[in-house]
Formats: sequence, C-alpha cells, structure tokens
Amino acid sequence: MCGIVGYIGKQKSKRASEVLLEGLSKLEYRGYDSAGIAVLENDKIRVEKSVGRLAALREKIEENEPVGTQGIGHTRWATHGRPSDRNSHPHTDCSGDFVVVHNGIIENYLTLKEELIEQGHEFKSETDTEVVAHLLEEVYNGDFTASVREVLRRIEGSYALVFMSSKHPGMLICAKQDNPLIIGLGEGENFIASDIPAIIAHTRRNYILGDGELAVVTADSVAITNRAGEPVQKKVFEVSWNAEAAEKGGYEHFMLKEIHEQPKAVRDTLSQRIAKDGTCIRMEELKWSREYLEQFTKIYIVACGTAYHAGLVGKYYIEKLARVNVEVDVASEFRYRDPIVDKHTLFIAVSQSGETSDTLAAMKESKRLGATTLALTNVVASSIAREADNVLYTWAGPEIAVASTKAYTTQIVLFFMLALYMAELKGTLPSERVAELVRELKNVPAQISETLSDVEPIKTFAKQYGFNEDVFYIGRGLDYSVSLEGALKLKEVSYIHAEAYAAGELKHGTLALITEGIPVIALATQKTVYEKTLSNIKEVKARDAVVIGIASADDEELEKYVDHVMKVPETDELLLPILTVVPLQLLAYYAAITRGTDVDKPRNLAKSVTVE
Ligand code: AGP
Repeated sequence: MCGIVGYIGKQKSKRASEVLLEGLSKLEYRGYDSAGIAVLENDKIRVEKSVGRLAALREKIEENEPVGTQGIGHTRWATHGRPSDRNSHPHTDCSGDFVVVHNGIIENYLTLKEELIEQGHEFKSETDTEVVAHLLEEVYNGDFTASVREVLRRIEGSYALVFMSSKHPGMLICAKQDNPLIIGLGEGENFIASDIPAIIAHTRRNYILGDGELAVVTADSVAITNRAGEPVQKKVFEVSWNAEAAEKGGYEHFMLKEIHEQPKAVRDTLSQRIAKDGTCIRMEELKWSREYLEQFTKIYIVACGTAYHAGLVGKYYIEKLARVNVEVDVASEFRYRDPIVDKHTLFIAVSQSGETSDTLAAMKESKRLGATTLALTNVVASSIAREADNVLYTWAGPEIAVASTKAYTTQIVLFFMLALYMAELKGTLPSERVAELVRELKNVPAQISETLSDVEPIKTFAKQYGFNEDVFYIGRGLDYSVSLEGALKLKEVSYIHAEAYAAGELKHGTLALITEGIPVIALATQKTVYEKTLSNIKEVKARDAVVIGIASADDEELEKYVDHVMKVPETDELLLPILTVVPLQLLAYYAAITRGTDVDKPRNLAKSVTVE
C-alpha cells in the first residue's frame, strides 16, 4: 500500500517539501521501497525521487531543497514495475506540466499506454501510474478539473490520486476509488493524505473522501464533488486517536487491522486476473501454454509456516482442478532430503516476505537441479521474487504484524486462480465449471466482510477459553489444512499450546489427550467427508471436550453435536478455506488480548526469518 501526502499553503516560510517529507516519514511503518516529492517551485514542477529509504531522498535534496508552498509526495510499495528511481512516484507527463501520485491499481493501463504511445507520448517508467499523467496531458482542455474528471472516466481500477499542474498554481486535485484518501483542514493551508498519521501533527480535522469523489483543494478552500460533478457536503471527521493508534487506522493492533483488510487485499489480488467477461482467469505474468505446462510431471510447493499451510491448500486445488501431482514440503526439510528434482519439475516457492532463507535456499537448490521455479510472494523484487523464473504477486499490501493473516488468504486466492488457469490450459475442467468457480470467487471479498461483521461470539469464546493451556483443531481435507493454520495463529500470538490434527487420526493416539473441558475447534465444511468428521466430533464429545464447530451457513446439522457453532457464508466448498480461516484468526487475536500477550510482536518470533 503506498503512502500519499499533499500540501498547499501560502506562507513562504512553510516549505511544502518539509511538510511532505515529514508526512511521508510518518508512513514509513507501512513498508515501502522508494519515495519522491514534487514541488511547484517558481511556477515549474520540480520532482525529486529516489529508490530506497526516505533518508536517501532527504540526502539527495539537502543541498538544494525545493522552494515552494505546494506539493505532493509518495512512498511506493511496488506492484507494477520493480523498485527503481524511474518507477518511483511522482510521475509527470511529457511536458512536465502535470504531475501525479497514486495508490492502487490501474487495471486498463496497458491498453491506455499503447494508445498514448501511438499518440506520441514517451514513457519513462514501467508503472501503471505514469499512464495517468500522460492521459491528463492528452485530454487537457484548459480546465484542470474537467480534464481530471475525463481521466477518471477513462481509467479502470482502484485509485487514490493527487494531481498538480504548473498551469494551475494554487490548487491540488485529488480523487478516490477503493483506496483511502483524506483531506486535512488547516488555517490558510490544507493537506491531503492516504491516511491520518501523515498529517495528524498539523490537523485533526479531516474530510474522508468517498468512492467516486473528487476534491479541488486550495490553501483556503476544499470543494468536493461526486462522479456526476455535483457538490458533496462533508461532515468534519475529528481524529481523537494518538499518533501511534493512527498508524493502525484506529485498530488496537496491526494484526486486527490486517485481518480486517482482507476483503480489500483479496479484491486487489483478484483484480486484473479475472477476464473481462468474468468467465475465466488471465495470468498476464505467466503466459503459459498447454505444451509448456505438460512438460512438468511433478510440482513441489515449498514454504514455511503460514505460507506452508497455504501451500497445502494449493496442493488440493491444483490436484483437484488441474490433475497434476503436487508435493508440499516445509523448506527446511525439503533441502536436506535429497529431493527428486529435474527439468520436468515445477518448484513453487510461497513467501509473504520473499526473504525467508529456508525457502530461498530450497528454491536455489531446485534451480540447480534443473527445476523451473515460480514464486508466490507479497513483496515486489524481493530475493525470492528475483531468483524465480516466474513470479505471481499477492497484492495484500504491507503485512506488519508477525502473525500472517491477509498474506495467507491472498496466497490461497492466488493458488485457486493458478489451479483454474492450469485447468483451463490442460482442459481438465469444462468451461462452464470454470466460469461457475470464477463467479463464486468474485463474491469472496464481500463474504469475508460478512464474516468480519460480527466478532462478538468469537470474543466471547476467546474470553471463555483463553486461559486454557491446550486447544485442539480438527478437520478433514481442506478443513485439516485450515486447522493447521488456525492452530499456528493461536500458538504464536496467545502462547496457548494448540495442536491441529487430521480428524481421522485422533483415535490413533491424540484422543488420549482429550479430557473434560478441553476446547476442540472442529471444522466441518467439506461435504465429501462431513459424516466422517461428525463421527470424529462425537468421539471427542464422548470424552467431554468442549467443541466449537466451524460450518457453512447452510449447515443445520452440526449444532446438534457441538457446544457452539460459528458459521461462514455459503460458497463452493473449495473456497471455504478463505472464509473459515477468518474466525480462527480472530479467535487467536482475541485469545491473545485475553492473555495480554504482545500481539503484533510475539516473543521469540520475527516477521521475516532470514536465518536458516
Ligand atoms: C506466520 O504467522 C508466521 N509468522 C510465520 O510462520 C511465517 O508464515 C513464516 O515465517 C514464513 O514467512 P514468509 O511467508 O515471509 O516466507
């Protein structure tokens, strides 16, 4: 997720560059790979940007800091185009009269870029954002606001955009769709930001822009209109948070914020990968063919921790939909078991950070043995991304909490789309089934929101069972894979000993540990093994365990056999892991709150394990 700051004032003593750099520094916690500012200096737009940390940008301009009272700034979390000076924002048009910063994804940028190149525009970067600057130059008719509105009409996708033009000093224009943008209200000055921490030092009074709204901001005025150009009256939002709370968007912890970011993270990961007619999957990043795919006789999915659990779900999807043999392994084991790898092997590395040493080393070993490699990662140009032959990015935005949540759900979504894509290439699924699954997939972000809409029952369970020292998770098939993730979440943030078991395995030993009052979280969403799971639930109930069932909304049976039920919206059972993991994430979070642990930074753990 990129950081945006805009400033417009009129006191010569208050330099826009200072306000911008200070504001961007308040957004550093979100993670970024480059930064830049544009200031209107002597009626010319001056852009200064640099890959790397903000300190590099400060160093670059310290001898000759831009002078001016209006400007825009940006910290980039790369999605399209690797981190580099030229890919950093802000981006200008050919003339240098227009400049823009952007957060989001312009889905039709390739088409627009081709058209603009034909019209003579010369591009300097690989980004989707630069297209917006050149499009503005192309449609500009003397009226800045109307021209920006025409740009917004032509672009598709999600955006928080801030524009500045040397032809129109004294004003900034910003617009929002699916990405946050606020306008901070000052005295004789106004601010624009992607979120509150950037400007809280200057003002606590803000307008929150809504989707489709555009604002024309001067030092003394803010005029907001909707998509139709009609004026919108906004209530002032008074920020009561302190600066630290503001970084978490008002949530108490990054983990909770990131759990609630999952609808958007999944929506962004889906965007551009579902064909326009909604009937199939497009993988622009891969461009595989049936012949290319058929060279692989074995697929390995190799990862650590939560990424490994996502790989277990990925195995299920690829084998079920694309009918290719898949083996999943933890990276630290894979490397040392003399794996059978050759040129007919596809090695898939899964890693949120893209820096996990075990996973990186396993991938390098596979490449040495002749495998083709594919990385599923959340960090553009990370070590694993750079080492892989192919890369698919989850667009979850920065994940700050040590406990991985939105990375897991977006990894599963990416695996589902990869499996569908492979199935289409191999012809292992009729196109009607593909289209049906794609339709269901598109509903998932809203279904995650629905699942997140009532957390009270989960808070109650967390209070009730948060002081137990042992908790068990059971399930079969996909439910077992999700059980493993649920147990890891609970362990790592609440320090409760949690164990996940294949429900059918209980009677082979673990049942000896099930005694009166032991909480057992039973996932029972997979219809093909439902009756079997029910019998395992009866086994633990017969030993007086307390059973919390996780079921699909259409299940009216389970509540007869368990103590509590948490339901998730009905969808194709293949997609249920994306939903059933959410109550387990919340359960782990609230159990940690009950026990007073350090939720975002649990003891002994690191966000990125760069040691073997
Ligand atoms: C997840 O909650 C854990 N913090 C941890 O297991 C993590 O998933 C693992 O270290 C892998 O990290 P990666 O996805 O960045 O490679």
